[in-house]
Amino acid sequence: MISTIQQRSDYTFKANRSLGRHGWLRLTPAYGVKLVEKLLANVDREAIVIDPFSGTATTALVAAELGHQAFSFDINPFLIWLGNAKCRNYSEHCLIDIRKQVKQVLKEYKILIGGDNWTPKIFHIERWWSSDTIKILSALRTALVNQFGEPEDNDDYNLVWIAFCRLIIESSSAAFNHISMSFKETVDEHDCEYIDELFLSIVELILMSAQQNICGSVQVVKVDARHITELDGIKIDKAITSPPYPNRISYIRELRPYMYWTKFLNEAKEAGELDWLAIGGTWGIATSRLNSWQLEDETLPDEILATVNTIKISDGKNASILAVYVLKYFYDMHLHLSSLRSILKDGCELHYIVGNSTFFGNMVDTAALLSESMRVLGYSKISYEIVRKRNCNKSLYEYCISATW
Ligand SMILES: C[S@@+](CC[C@H](N)C(=O)[O-])C[C@H]1O[C@@H](n2cnc3c(N)ncnc32)[C@H](O)[C@@H]1O
Repeated sequence: MISTIQQRSDYTFKANRSLGRHGWLRLTPAYGVKLVEKLLANVDREAIVIDPFSGTATTALVAAELGHQAFSFDINPFLIWLGNAKCRNYSEHCLIDIRKQVKQVLKEYKILIGGDNWTPKIFHIERWWSSDTIKILSALRTALVNQFGEPEDNDDYNLVWIAFCRLIIESSSAAFNHISMSFKETVDEHDCEYIDELFLSIVELILMSAQQNICGSVQVVKVDARHITELDGIKIDKAITSPPYPNRISYIRELRPYMYWTKFLNEAKEAGELDWLAIGGTWGIATSRLNSWQLEDETLPDEILATVNTIKISDGKNASILAVYVLKYFYDMHLHLSSLRSILKDGCELHYIVGNSTFFGNMVDTAALLSESMRVLGYSKISYEIVRKRNCNKSLYEYCISATW
């Protein structure tokens, strides 16, 4: 049966690129609108939906487009800002104003090129952009700040900054043909004309799709999904989410350029601190801290401990630290599933899209292990099925775990 499972790019971020607001900025681990729509089919319009691992707010935006009230949690301040910006309505006046002011900025910013403009402290920035392109981008950024303020200053101008994020990634040497981001072999040189045209076309695309108003409501809030307390007494009818997978891929890797240019990140060490909060994070300090991390008093299912042990006793390089990594991942997810219960309505349905992984040939069956956590924590009607194959590696799949509270 497994050999017939397809990669289903329609269930991934790839299919979102042509879907209006969903396509504004890419995040490779985002899932497809179609998958969320399928999971939301037949849900009452009054149903309150939550995504405790918001990412680019795909769940919340789909839910709000269908008229639902949606809540979304994340610990990454850039993604919280982006999620709220993607899911709010913009008046016609605001869109006209942005279009006019952007054209003005593009006429005027060139005199700033070569001046003392702020540039982000990205490690090895020359791998991303040539020094001349950096001068153009920094001058444009300065002019945009003069006109619109910094990204968090004025919600009406969020769209300008989303367009700027897309400009910096499209003018960079980032390559996305692997599971995680890498670099092209050469760094392209761009002149002002190219940057102006690219920026204008991105702004236009974003303004066009922002015209479509959203009838539901969304709040993306900063909440650590391991420590959910309450939601102003609101109880949730449906949870649809895709948490991190235990595969050592850090979101910060792909998000860094956006986060530095928008000042959500200022120093390299902040990235490691942020990734330490992220479940499954491994960036910078997040990996070295695993050396001193210890399991606190929490009863984890035996199946999780057995999987961790097979990794630990394998003769792979760094096997013991990777065993701790996997243990912490499942411990954090267990904390999440435990604290989530406080905001769920009785009968709430949950759908978790997760991926398996392998460590030194040992399979980490994420869907089976999280299902065990759910069972121990009192969830019912737990089942899981394969949704799609992740890549050409035959043994990596995405699953949908469904359960009821
Ligand atoms: C797989 S991504 C979600 C992608 C999302 N479904 C989308 O379509 O964009 C997982 C998200 O979980 C967030 N996350 C990781 N640890 C978290 C935590 N402790 N609390 C809340 N969010 C967390 C990450 O920042 C990331 O945005």
